[in-house]
Amino acid sequence: MLDCDPGHDDAMAILLAAASPAIELEAITTVAGNQTVEKVTLNARRVCSVAGIRDVPIAAGCDRPLRREPIIAGEIHGASGLDGVEWGEPTVDADPRHAVDVLIERAEADERPLTVVAVGPLTNVATALQRAPRIVDRLERISIMGGAIGLGNWTPSAEFNIYADPEAAAAVFAAGVPITLVPLEVTHRALATDEVLARIAALDTPVARMSDALMRFFADTYQRVFGFDAPAVHDPCAVAAIIDPTLVPTRLVNVAIDTGSELSAGRTVCDVYGTTGRTPNADVGVDLDVDRFWDLMLAALAAYPRL
Ligand code: BDR
Ligand code: CA
Repeated sequence: MLDCDPGHDDAMAILLAAASPAIELEAITTVAGNQTVEKVTLNARRVCSVAGIRDVPIAAGCDRPLRREPIIAGEIHGASGLDGVEWGEPTVDADPRHAVDVLIERAEADERPLTVVAVGPLTNVATALQRAPRIVDRLERISIMGGAIGLGNWTPSAEFNIYADPEAAAAVFAAGVPITLVPLEVTHRALATDEVLARIAALDTPVARMSDALMRFFADTYQRVFGFDAPAVHDPCAVAAIIDPTLVPTRLVNVAIDTGSELSAGRTVCDVYGTTGRTPNADVGVDLDVDRFWDLMLAALAAYPRL
């Protein structure tokens, strides 16, 4: 299942996860992050409506971090959380269940182990693990877009998803579930360059036109806020790492979350050299096969109908 806070790059993660023949997208759950949970849930419904994704439940989750005051990334994703597209009325409804219940129910009800891809703050995942610790054995892996080995993007020390709810991140990393962490060092290689945008536009479908508009808005943001020539499409990298782990080479290291300090709150402290003696708890992405990542993304986008 995909836990997200759409979000421009979350939208691309939804499109990749729903269209990939290699995985079965069982649910989309939403969490307060880029915008309020109401807005990001509406955005998930909007994306699924345009794409014709009707058989995947969309369940709204936690509306605030475990302990901290909520933050939003309006500067990055706009007032709606998904600015840049003229949205019509969504034709896909939300599931009435809470995201945390959906996660626990699915983990417990089915013998098949569950993989969770989490591309927003980790509040839903942490809440599920705290409420039902027994599901630890039912989770095959959690693939997380978040954190950085080095520089953050929300503060010099911290990446947005982890900074937004560091206590949740700390709980998830301590839970004992296999984790793939896809940090900024990986996702900053997934740039929607002009060449990528041309490939998307050439598909000339409703999903391609939506993606193109989203990426163009995101490009303006990344130019204005970070000075990037092209936007970093973070979240589908965490989906890609599950579809084809060879796309994201990793190193097994200890990751500890800084929840205590002011300057570095939300930092993913990655013990790359093994100097702390702490037990490795995450496969941390260190690179991205950029060409094959975009081939995967384009193949997914091409699977949506021309309508
Ligand atoms: C992460 O923060 C959000 O704004 C994006 O959707 C992504 O999940 C990148 O730091
Ligand atoms: Ca996100």
